[in-house]
Amino acid sequence: MFLNLEPLYSSIVENIKERVSKLPKPPKLAAVTCQPDLSTLSYLRSQEKQAKRLGIEFAVYEALKASDLKLLLPKLSSDDTVNGIFLTHPLPSDISELEAVSLISPEKDVEGRHPINLGNIMYDNPIFPPCTAEAVLRIIKYVTNPAGKTITIVGRSVTVGKPLSMLLLQKGVDATVTVCHSRTKNLAEITRNSEIVVVAIGKAKALGKEYFSPGALVIDVGINVENNEIFGDVDPSVAEICDLTPVPGGVGRITTLVLMEHTVKAAEMARKY
Ligand SMILES: NC(=O)c1ccc[n+]([C@@H]2O[C@H](COP(=O)([O-])OP(=O)(O)OC[C@H]3O[C@@H](n4cnc5c(N)ncnc54)[C@H](OP(=O)(O)O)[C@@H]3O)[C@@H](O)[C@H]2O)c1
Repeated sequence: MFLNLEPLYSSIVENIKERVSKLPKPPKLAAVTCQPDLSTLSYLRSQEKQAKRLGIEFAVYEALKASDLKLLLPKLSSDDTVNGIFLTHPLPSDISELEAVSLISPEKDVEGRHPINLGNIMYDNPIFPPCTAEAVLRIIKYVTNPAGKTITIVGRSVTVGKPLSMLLLQKGVDATVTVCHSRTKNLAEITRNSEIVVVAIGKAKALGKEYFSPGALVIDVGINVENNEIFGDVDPSVAEICDLTPVPGGVGRITTLVLMEHTVKAAEMARKY
């Protein structure tokens, strides 16, 4: 069946609203875009709507070239009125992802892409882990206790697969983790032997029922747009034999909330200095 994540969603919303109400002023999230395409613009509109609902100020800044980014990101990082910064794709071609995210102050890197924030995960000290990885962990913990469970992650990106593997390996979370990728042999054999499978490969409906054992928990991270429709990486028929997160309305919805929650956390941390 498809998992109902509404109670998890509502509890995070309530927690954010309560924390915002205790701050002296609304936290501010700055979105930085570089030549946004249509899907980025629609993503920004939905982030803005969500921020407003939660009492978070939202502002969009444009940086057309790498040289603009190199001025704007340090400026926003030292701006006391800004609590969180997030950077949309695509980036200008003359700056790498690593170079760009390194220009954001780690204390305002609410997406968790700065090398310091990624490094903190290795020390079992996640402050701002990547939002999608954290969203997946929240969903798994909402459904079951991951301790001792066999969990396979399909996909090894810096934003999902790699940091999620570290979050699941943390002491206190204690999952037994396998990470697969496009060069993995016998993928179906590995996923079928897992109690929980997280799929983040970016290929619409790529994994069908033959990849999962009945009763497994399957977290579908994929967001693939085809003919104006959104599909996950997992074929929806998998819900007939497993507990499957829906797409849309699953991981993506929780990920947006985690970004907002990180912005509130950044504002709370700034008050302590
Ligand atoms: N829900 C959300 O909030 C959210 C957030 C971020 C991303 N996403 C979605 O999640 C998906 C993945 O995103 P990403 O940024 O992690 O993608 P990515 O950077 O393109 O990484 C894809 C990963 O999948 C692996 N892969 C590709 N085809 C495979 C196959 N047939 N079998 C096994 N592994 C395969 C790749 O292996 P190699 O490393 O060997 O190439 C790579 O590690 C996309 O649909 C994206 O839109 C959703």
